[in-house]
Amino acid sequence: MATLEQKVVLITGTGGGMGRVAALIFAREGAKVIGCDIQADANDETVELVRRAGGEMTGIAPVDLTDPEQVRRFVEDAVAAYGGLDVVYNNAAAMRFGSMPDFSVGDWRATVAGELDIPFFVSKFAWPHLVRRGGGVIINVASMAGMIAGENPPMVGHTAANAGVIGMTRQLALEGAAHGIRAVAISPGPVGTPASERDLAGNQAARDAIIGKTLLKRFARPEEIVELAAFLASDRAAYITGANYPVDGGASAW
Ligand SMILES: NC(=O)c1ccc[n+]([C@@H]2O[C@H](COP(=O)([O-])OP(=O)(O)OC[C@H]3O[C@@H](n4cnc5c(N)ncnc54)[C@H](O)[C@@H]3O)[C@@H](O)[C@H]2O)c1
Repeated sequence: MATLEQKVVLITGTGGGMGRVAALIFAREGAKVIGCDIQADANDETVELVRRAGGEMTGIAPVDLTDPEQVRRFVEDAVAAYGGLDVVYNNAAAMRFGSMPDFSVGDWRATVAGELDIPFFVSKFAWPHLVRRGGGVIINVASMAGMIAGENPPMVGHTAANAGVIGMTRQLALEGAAHGIRAVAISPGPVGTPASERDLAGNQAARDAIIGKTLLKRFARPEEIVELAAFLASDRAAYITGANYPVDGGASAW
């Protein structure tokens, strides 16, 4: 039996990058996946890819997850799709980079909205459904930037927001334990995705600095992050909650 057989898994940001790979891997493990994105065409493509691979997925898009009302409706539709919810995989994020003091108030607010509001809103509206189900798992994708500072590109909003995600995960674990809800964070290092390609386009110095900080001297493949998420979502990880897992090629080790 696959690891996630019969589990209903909500994944945010399935239009590309790690979210698309997560939809494919969770479905491969037997989950019924509900995925959303602000990019409807890209999300439809993911649904098509999952179904072609023999998996089960419902796509709901476009959804702007920084808008609490849209998140509330999305979660209600997701719950209706398969009659409940077992796992929430908070993957979607959007952020801005820039150095002090030029990082504007607008940049700060956009980053906090894109990285911290989104997992809070989704977890908030999913929570009562997990409680009703007798428990479940919330997996928050944070970043190594939540644990260590980053020189290039400069990232004051990104570091603060991801430290927030790691802190929020601990609190969700504490409050969720009595309801059978586990909460865990994964903190990736550099991963080869459309987002990292876009953010580092033409910035070879930043690319070299980022790779140089890893012990393994390379970017991760999205699969190397998502395989851990699939394990953490499964009942095989039943004793794991409140923890943050760096998957960063050793970048935070020194
Ligand atoms: N790529 C990296 O190097 C890296 C490193 C550490 C952490 N992370 C984290 O991993 C997660 C996935 O990253 P990725 O590189 O796959 O990103 P990505 O940009 O390739 O994918 C994110 C997806 O989320 C969607 N999205 C963004 N804002 C949205 C919104 N408001 N509403 C709905 N959908 C929205 C995007 O359209 C996109 O499809 C993020 O939480 C990111 O912070 C990435």
